[in-house]
Amino acid sequence: MVNYIGTGTSRVDGRAKVTGEAKYAGEFNASGLLYGSVIESTIPKGRIARIDASEALRVEGVIEVLTHQNRPRMAESDEAWKDDVAPEEGSPFRPLYNDKIKFSGQPVALVLAEGWEVARYAASLVRIEYEKQASATDLHKERDRAFVVKKPEKPRGDVEKAYAAADVRHEAEYFIPTEHHNPMELFASTVIWDSGGKLTVYDKTQGVQNVQRYLCSVFDKKADDVRVVSPFVGGAFGSGLRPQYQVVLAVLGAIALERSVRLVLTRQQMYGLGYRPATIERLALGAKVDGTLDAITHEAIAVTSQFEDFSRNDTGWSALLYKSANAKNVHRLARLDVPTSSDMRAPGAATGVYALESAMDELAVALKVDPIELRLRCYSDQDQNEGIPYTSKRLRECYRQGAEAFGWDKRKPEPRSMRDGSELVGWGMATGVWEALQMPTAARIVLTANGHAEVSCAASDIGTGTYTIMAQVAADTLGLPIENISIKLGDSTLPQAPVEGGSWMAASASHAVAATAEEVLKELLDLAKAMKGSPLAGARFEDVVLADGKLVSKQEASRAVSITDAMRHGAIDRIEKEKTNNFPDDSSHARNTHSAVFAEVKIDEQLGVIRVTRVVSAIAGGRVLNTKTAHSQIMGSVVGGIGMALHEETLFDHRFGRIMNPNIAEYHVPVNADVHDIKVIFVDEPDEIVNPLGIKGLGEIGIVGVAAAIANAVYHATGTRVRDLPITLDKLQR
Ligand code: MOS
Repeated sequence: MVNYIGTGTSRVDGRAKVTGEAKYAGEFNASGLLYGSVIESTIPKGRIARIDASEALRVEGVIEVLTHQNRPRMAESDEAWKDDVAPEEGSPFRPLYNDKIKFSGQPVALVLAEGWEVARYAASLVRIEYEKQASATDLHKERDRAFVVKKPEKPRGDVEKAYAAADVRHEAEYFIPTEHHNPMELFASTVIWDSGGKLTVYDKTQGVQNVQRYLCSVFDKKADDVRVVSPFVGGAFGSGLRPQYQVVLAVLGAIALERSVRLVLTRQQMYGLGYRPATIERLALGAKVDGTLDAITHEAIAVTSQFEDFSRNDTGWSALLYKSANAKNVHRLARLDVPTSSDMRAPGAATGVYALESAMDELAVALKVDPIELRLRCYSDQDQNEGIPYTSKRLRECYRQGAEAFGWDKRKPEPRSMRDGSELVGWGMATGVWEALQMPTAARIVLTANGHAEVSCAASDIGTGTYTIMAQVAADTLGLPIENISIKLGDSTLPQAPVEGGSWMAASASHAVAATAEEVLKELLDLAKAMKGSPLAGARFEDVVLADGKLVSKQEASRAVSITDAMRHGAIDRIEKEKTNNFPDDSSHARNTHSAVFAEVKIDEQLGVIRVTRVVSAIAGGRVLNTKTAHSQIMGSVVGGIGMALHEETLFDHRFGRIMNPNIAEYHVPVNADVHDIKVIFVDEPDEIVNPLGIKGLGEIGIVGVAAAIANAVYHATGTRVRDLPITLDKLQR
């Protein structure tokens, strides 16, 4: 029975969010709550020579100033500080650990006071002296020192030879600056201390169980002594995948003072956390005159810290996506005096595919072929890296439906050939690709005789709609109206879930719910069959479904037993089941989502002001669980892509190794005036191989390709190719 899956069901948590009933990490309360304020390093590299907190400690209401000199004990080994998603190589950051300074914005002291304003004021009175060392924060200057990251991808063919022999060649470097996530909700933790030393930690995170394990390890606590809760998350974009330093500091404060502590970072302090690494991408494409590719080289140099090697797959997409007998990828890392880079909005793909799809556009220009036509000539029904088929790939349909909705056939190929009054008009397109990932996840269902089900799982809903899709899947698999389903998420004591990221949660959580619902059905069937003269006597598990509050025979709808009757006859009033769903290991198929993105820009010819007036995003992402939340996911991702193309850029003053625009006044993100018409198309993509429900996951696929489509449109409008993002108006005037 499918009543809810695939519909535009409104968010089940929508009312709680708009009424303010939904509580976020910094809003939980406790008696005697203390407030923390962080002091950050003003230098990027060196050591703390002296800290004088005496003046701060004299302020009324200030309880303590914690530093590396007087903090409680924390773990010492690198292993103890490695969370579930920490890079394999390196030594994770530890706040207030010792006198070493590794980046500007590093926390060096924590003021704890009776009130937030007092804590913040007192923080301004703490005197810190540093011994400075020379620092490096400029990727362009350090690029030659970058080292090659080990990657499994093997080169194929002889790319140098093929490139040299190509009829048409395109080679260029593209640049994506450092970007910060800037979720609406600030990073915050409220730690509730109970007299037995147990901690309840309300934390802004994409993974409560990751934070729980990490805190137990760092503070040498038993699993039962730390509970991490995060029912609602005000956005994260990947910044909440790893535990952030404020949660360590809040716990440190609670342990030091045996009190409850709340710590909320300022917007400025959030620029001391992870970020999308600045990346230099070099593409070299060699083609035959007929527009088929024969050589793809993609090299990337990305930023990481001096102490951990974070990297993602930027270059592999190029060799994967298009047919080419010869291909090579190389990923390098440059270690700078900055925090470790991190996952942000389709990490690797948003950047790598921006470069690839810009280069493909340049190649199309060189070949004088339509950009879509070029992609069709290189189209591959196989994963070119592995030589295996996809579980499904309806990218051709994305090109077709997207082009039709956009009106691509009316495009004049020459740059500067389309106008609207005083504005130049440009049309560009790009391909997007992401992975369809899925992870082992558990769910618990408690079904009561009155036909109400509570479904629980430790997963977070970072705003993507997890509560809602889980309620839909539960309602359909249990045969109940959605109003009878309640969902509990974001608590480390609930059944096991991975961090919410990588667009894997929809598939992972849905199958956990479906697998557990099956267990509920089995027990109900046993009860129903035990009834005297049971209408379901002899029925096998495969023969029945749950629908309208009843167990119903698939062959004969009149043979049915209500949930209430089955439980009453069994003399029980609830059924509780918990099951972990594991996806079978299957390397015979590639699992990916795809998109075709079309963008229209209008550019004031005199001033160079760019408006993205239209975007059409056609997505092939398997089964869409909820048309409304899925649409929102893609629309939001397109807005992120507009930001990447035109606005977002973290600017450094390399002399001081400091960020110059650590706030959302000067770090530009798209606002309403920057966002015009966005049309989202979901291409029908049935997939019986990827997983039983055919779910691939959406969200990240929505940003991949957007920046390239816009950059390509800007070229088409102006004839100027800007290869370093963001495309600001000064770059069009050069
Ligand atoms: Mo996403 S960058 O995996 O939260």
